[in-house]
Amino acid sequence: MKFSKNVLMPLVTAASLLVAAPAALAETFKMAVGDAAGGTQWELGTTFAKLFQQKTGGKHKVDLFPNGQLGSEEDTINNAAMGTLDFSILAVNNITPFSPTVGLLTMPYLIQSADEAKKLTQGEIGKELTDNTVRDAGVRIVGWAYSGFRVLTNSKRPVKTLEDLKGLVIRVPKNEIMISSYQAWGINPTPMSWSETFTGLQQRVVDGQDNPYITVSAMKFYEVQKYITNIRYIFSLEPLVVSEQVFKSQKPEVQKAILEAGQEATEHSFKYLLETEDKIKKDLAARGMQITDPANGEKEWIAKATTAVWPKFYKSIGGKEKLDRAQKVLGR
Ligand code: MLT
Repeated sequence: MKFSKNVLMPLVTAASLLVAAPAALAETFKMAVGDAAGGTQWELGTTFAKLFQQKTGGKHKVDLFPNGQLGSEEDTINNAAMGTLDFSILAVNNITPFSPTVGLLTMPYLIQSADEAKKLTQGEIGKELTDNTVRDAGVRIVGWAYSGFRVLTNSKRPVKTLEDLKGLVIRVPKNEIMISSYQAWGINPTPMSWSETFTGLQQRVVDGQDNPYITVSAMKFYEVQKYITNIRYIFSLEPLVVSEQVFKSQKPEVQKAILEAGQEATEHSFKYLLETEDKIKKDLAARGMQITDPANGEKEWIAKATTAVWPKFYKSIGGKEKLDRAQKVLGR
């Protein structure tokens, strides 16, 4: 695994910074964090760690390992499923290969606002996806980071139209729904692990990628990317998962503390996004990034992706009725 020079972080014992606990008595859990410190994943993880330690009276603490130090986001799911890693925070698109029904949350243009993202993750649908992920991937979703829409960045030119996109080499996660979205837009994207993406952009193996403003900032992509296009095809959701084996092996009061800390950290994450995203967007512009809106209210992008991608993935998300139900919950 490669790290950029500036985002490799030392091991940070977040909870220990926040709550003084007698270290000798504390059982310490490991939490992998896909992004560098400073973004929505980090905010969720540190908030969870602090609350969990408080709720267990200092008997349990969590060490966070940011920036893919414990492996790619996909590796962390495998390790958590085997019980060799306790917690991981990663983008939902990187869980989909292990638990296809969560692909519902990355269907292009389904989620149209932060409120809609909250509605889908916190209600019956979120509960069903959590149960499916325990069954399919051996990990339990106990919290969500709300990270904002994934905007397109690149180092070559402003992109307003699908015509402008042609010829650009765009990195995507190893996620079939996202690969198909770019194919519907007329290009063949390059699937690449998140932990290799900064280096891929820096060495110009790829010209661009998409991720939320807050992630672009936390990962210092402004050092290697110049242009942003405000597309809104996927609202980035980044679950906190616990190994089901580890969860099941805990006493009921510790399980309860995990679930409560996860829920409270989720509430915090939502507020953090609303308070932070605009400031970060301005900061990226001040650092020289050029921000563009897609032409014609993104109409062509929306039409092509929904027409070509939705039907292709009905089966993997559990049937067309799952998408219909989500639309109904969202009042459409
Ligand atoms: C990805 O693009 O692979 C993920 O969205 C990155 C992340 O975890 O922030």
